[in-house]
Amino acid sequence: MRFARLRALAALVTMAAGLLAAPLAAAAGSAERGKLAYVKHGCWQCHGFMGQGGVTGPKLAPNPMPPEALSAFVRNTNGAMPPYQKAILSDEDLADIHAYLQSLPKAPDYKSIPLLNP
Ligand code: HEC
Repeated sequence: MRFARLRALAALVTMAAGLLAAPLAAAAGSAERGKLAYVKHGCWQCHGFMGQGGVTGPKLAPNPMPPEALSAFVRNTNGAMPPYQKAILSDEDLADIHAYLQSLPKAPDYKSIPLLNP
């Protein structure tokens, strides 16, 4: 009897945790959609398809800046990069772009590449 009640309580706690986790996961963005948004909005033209950086834009991945900083920069920059207003690039797309940059793998350690270690 007591165990049954405990088990019911545990089930309730698990369900509540699931409900809380769902919106957080949505806010964190999707790397898959982010890749599309990154291409659609032309970030790749200056930063490279893998965020590796290029002649015109610095490296963005791996280890991108936190989402808040990314958003503040992209929306308000007045330097060499054009700012992107919400009407053009939605908050969702930006969160997805962050998830995409976050998902990109780190380069392997040069010591693990035989050609670089004669
Ligand atoms: C026309 C070229 C161009 C395009 C397109 C472009 N950027 Fe940039 N971006 C730059 C340049 C140049 C800088 C460095 C500018 C500066 O420091 O003022 C930069 C800087 C940044 C930085 C800051 C990096 C750092 O470490 O300080 C972020 C983040 C960024 N871009 C994200 C994006 C995203 C996301 C997109 C697409 C929505 C995008 N950029 C599209 C040229 C571009």
